[in-house]
Amino acid sequence: MPSRTHIGSPYMQYAKLRSAAKYNLASSGIMSYPLKELPVTLEDLEICGPTLYGYAPLLERLAKRNGVTPDCVVTAAGTSMANHLAMAATLEPGEEALVEWPTYELVVTTLEYLGATVRHFERRMEDGFRVDPEEVERKMTPQTRLIVLTNLQNPTGAMIDEDTLRAVGDIARKNSARVLVDEVYLEALYEQRPRPAVHLGDHFVVTRSLTKAYGLSGLRCGWVLANPELAQRMWHINDLYGVNAAFPADLMSVIALDNLERVAARAKKLLAANRPVLDGFLRSRDDIAVVRPEFGTVAFPKLLRGSVEQLDRLLRAEYETSIVPGRYFGMAEHFRVGIGGDPEMTRAAFERLGLALDKMRADA
Ligand SMILES: Cc1ncc(COP(=O)(O)O)c(C=O)c1O
Repeated sequence: MPSRTHIGSPYMQYAKLRSAAKYNLASSGIMSYPLKELPVTLEDLEICGPTLYGYAPLLERLAKRNGVTPDCVVTAAGTSMANHLAMAATLEPGEEALVEWPTYELVVTTLEYLGATVRHFERRMEDGFRVDPEEVERKMTPQTRLIVLTNLQNPTGAMIDEDTLRAVGDIARKNSARVLVDEVYLEALYEQRPRPAVHLGDHFVVTRSLTKAYGLSGLRCGWVLANPELAQRMWHINDLYGVNAAFPADLMSVIALDNLERVAARAKKLLAANRPVLDGFLRSRDDIAVVRPEFGTVAFPKLLRGSVEQLDRLLRAEYETSIVPGRYFGMAEHFRVGIGGDPEMTRAAFERLGLALDKMRADA
């Protein structure tokens, strides 16, 4: 087990300290939604209020939106804290979690921090990064208590269909295990959003937030969906961490949820402008291979010639452009690009990425 005094997330440090650039393809979310476009006035806000085990109007809205009762909802500071609570409530130290690979690094770091043993099952590029239930079953051991998936997958954007989730759920149930599905990117399907996996049974736990798909990251409006008993356990674990949520943020989250169509309209417009740019870029290159995601805000191309570290260095040094090197997700020959930014900037960023790849080829 890693020492708690040395714990940290190399990916988070990269994201916070090194991913900023004039031409930013490193962000995985929709660019910030401006506060002035939300109908919020000072009279709507207050410093302190009845947050306790959740602010009732927020719990009610999230319950309705997700088709559950409020006692199945635990609000949390982003999907990050939602994942932390969900993992802490479903695993004892020394128990085993089975996590998809490639993966969002924080999933593994958090599990290790909680004292879990982490094993992986692969989602293979040649298989469209799909989840293969047989592969999951092969990797289960009698100690496995939690299977962790991201849907849409970070970093690939691949979607898991309900039949596959159900098959994984059956494997978990046979083993007295649970399935945690981080659905933060599923929110980016907007009105086509599939129902949360928690509807597939009591052994599913889901985490979501308004952070990535709407440009509302600063509100930290995240939540867990779980059966009421498990949800209660999470509230009690949260007593040790956050005690109460920031009440002004809860009030603004309620207003954001009441106006989510307008917030989503802007996000959809951004993606409608940027996705063809991504597609055009991917089509134009014979030095990368990709499983093209249909939805979401990211793609995870594989570089077929040269090294991603070299590309990353070149992009920073000469093109003011950032990507996320694939080593942060466990696949060093890939890199992640995001399409949630300003369309003009995104277009220029892909042009620059193309120029950097051309230069690498010329210099090889
Ligand atoms: C799969 C996944 N889960 C959770 C998070 C964190 O989300 P939030 O900003 O809602 O805490 C991220 C952020 O990149 C992510 O990719």
